[in-house]
Amino acid sequence: MANHNAVVTGYGFHAPSRIVTNRDFEKMVDTSDEWITTRTGIKERHFAADGESTSTLAIRAAKVALERAHMRPADLDLIVVGSASPDYLFPATACIVQSALGAEHAGAFDVEAACTSFISALAIANGMILGGTARNALVIGAETLSRLLDFTDRTTCVLFGDGAGAVVLEASNASVGVESAVLHADGSKGELLLVRAGGTRMPASKETVEQGQHFIRMQGGEVFKLAVKSMCDAAEEALAAAGVTGDDIDLLVPHQANLRIIDAVARRLHFPPEKVFVNIQHYGNTSAASIPIALSEAAEQGRLHKGDRVLLAAFGGGFTWGAAVMEWWGVPIPDRREKGLVGRAARTVDDLLERVRLPG
Ligand code: COA
Repeated sequence: MANHNAVVTGYGFHAPSRIVTNRDFEKMVDTSDEWITTRTGIKERHFAADGESTSTLAIRAAKVALERAHMRPADLDLIVVGSASPDYLFPATACIVQSALGAEHAGAFDVEAACTSFISALAIANGMILGGTARNALVIGAETLSRLLDFTDRTTCVLFGDGAGAVVLEASNASVGVESAVLHADGSKGELLLVRAGGTRMPASKETVEQGQHFIRMQGGEVFKLAVKSMCDAAEEALAAAGVTGDDIDLLVPHQANLRIIDAVARRLHFPPEKVFVNIQHYGNTSAASIPIALSEAAEQGRLHKGDRVLLAAFGGGFTWGAAVMEWWGVPIPDRREKGLVGRAARTVDDLLERVRLPG
């Protein structure tokens, strides 16, 4: 079997242009810039404009990632969107992205594991590339959480923001790429963070709307307690699965939910501040989008270079948590065609057998 790993060859993000500061929230709810800053690290967040939604943000991020990877949409064979705030219950936001990009050969579906959605989507795309059923995948984390916020509930509305991040993950013969990905869940803790109405269990009705049941509800203190331990456990597991230690990691890119959580995770994992990427001050918690936005910004700011090893860690509603280790590539594969890496992935057993005969 050709020894293909899955490497990131392009990345991009998009944050809507409307910026809402903590001072703006002072006019909406009983809060203060000082409270929000000291308790969360957040100074501002971006909110989508009318007419924007999760798919429009995702499409813009995807275009940047494809451009950087020098990949045409027609070469994609997989699009996975991680999101807890999709455009619709169905069709999948990934299908809207597929159509807008003209990715005519791509399968497309959404993954929902709240703030762990991006790592979940990455794990799936990685597995499909390793298994030979995808070669060129677009992995997106995108959210428009502002549409699910109760702007009278100060305990939640100040925390979240909108945005999207994307990576192109593709088969490579080089010995780099995603080295490990671990996922966990504890569904018994689902009540800690949820949107209760609008699904099949509690369909949207006049009553659910009047009671604000279609908004995010959270037991913040309980979530906080679980967050640090779950992220650290997952990170240590992902490091062990990759056969590396924290010393081998150049940059920790944690889910951006709360600066105090990030600091506690970094301390417990013995990462000095210069090895931890933080941008929560500008975006708030963008859930599934937070890690791909952070990866993209880190690369744009020169904090991530080709060959660096990155540790990703996230936790979120579900309760879900996970982590991944990868060697960062971040540039196009120069000689895809010579390496037989262009074109659709194996779809049939015959295709797969054909691929086994490919040179490694
Ligand atoms: N402005 C001012 N006061 C606020 C406030 C706000 N926006 N939100 C809550 N408060 C108040 C509370 O009502 C409480 O008042 P009380 O003592 O009179 O009841 C007080 O501040 C302290 O609340 P507490 O919950 O103890 O604060 P905290 O230090 O735990 O911080 C969170 C609250 C939400 C910031 C914190 O719990 C948190 O970040 N949790 C994790 C949330 C998260 O990451 N969720 C996403 C998961 S992916």
